[in-house]
Amino acid sequence: MLKYDDYVESAKALCRKLGEFCPEILIILGSGLGNLGARMKDPIAVPYSEIPNMKFSTAPGHKGRFLAGELGGKNVLMMQGRLHIYEGWAAEDAVFPIRVAKLMGIDKLIVTNAAGGINEGYRPGELMLINDFIKLNAVNPLIGPNIEEFGPRFPDMTHVFDREYMEVFRDIAVSHGENIHEGVYFYCTGPQYETPAEIRAMRLLGADAVGMSTVPECIAARHCGMRILGLTLVTNMAAGILDKPLSGEEVIEAGNAASERLSTYVTEFHGNI
Ligand code: HPA
Repeated sequence: MLKYDDYVESAKALCRKLGEFCPEILIILGSGLGNLGARMKDPIAVPYSEIPNMKFSTAPGHKGRFLAGELGGKNVLMMQGRLHIYEGWAAEDAVFPIRVAKLMGIDKLIVTNAAGGINEGYRPGELMLINDFIKLNAVNPLIGPNIEEFGPRFPDMTHVFDREYMEVFRDIAVSHGENIHEGVYFYCTGPQYETPAEIRAMRLLGADAVGMSTVPECIAARHCGMRILGLTLVTNMAAGILDKPLSGEEVIEAGNAASERLSTYVTEFHGNI
């Protein structure tokens, strides 16, 4: 298991790479959304492989590097590619960068993902503000000895997603004519897509979208007291809703198609928080 000192070592290593630059927001980019980095002014790129104790991204559409730079007037640390548990990483490895960011003084997280729409009122290409999550399976990044420096043994999850951030982001999206939803994200480890029966069950449980990321990161981020904005891009309707199989390519394409819009909103969001 990772020790507190491992996180400290990695935070120091990343700080050294960034020199004078001090980020205040961490942004995690989901499948196909990596283009958001293109809007940063003169970013500093740091591959995950250069950070001690950190694993690397193997998922398609995930570059596996940090970009640090200014976006919308805020100093940002961006993850172009995340670490998923389905890649074989332990849950604590998947959330490692969150805790490293916290030690660097970052207390705001914008987390994005691609997901399947469970709510039949949703359409591919639409955005959903995550207002809560469901994670019924056992995997949890906080299992193991609690690291008190980050947070308590039994952290509260009543308000995972920041209400004020949601309102600010919603206003921006609506001002651009976006039909933005607000709903519950159901976490599955993947890597297989869900069965139609699972999707029906998730709908009964109150889920609006389903994906293979985000929740471990949000648990770790709330544990250490970060404010979170969670953004889902509906890249496809979930299994069984339409009479066609799901594909990873479709997810990446939908992500690429939406990334310009999302970049605009996130950039404006920075100017409003
Ligand atoms: N299920 C799980 N993860 C996903 C999906 C989906 O339908 N689409 C994009 N990521």
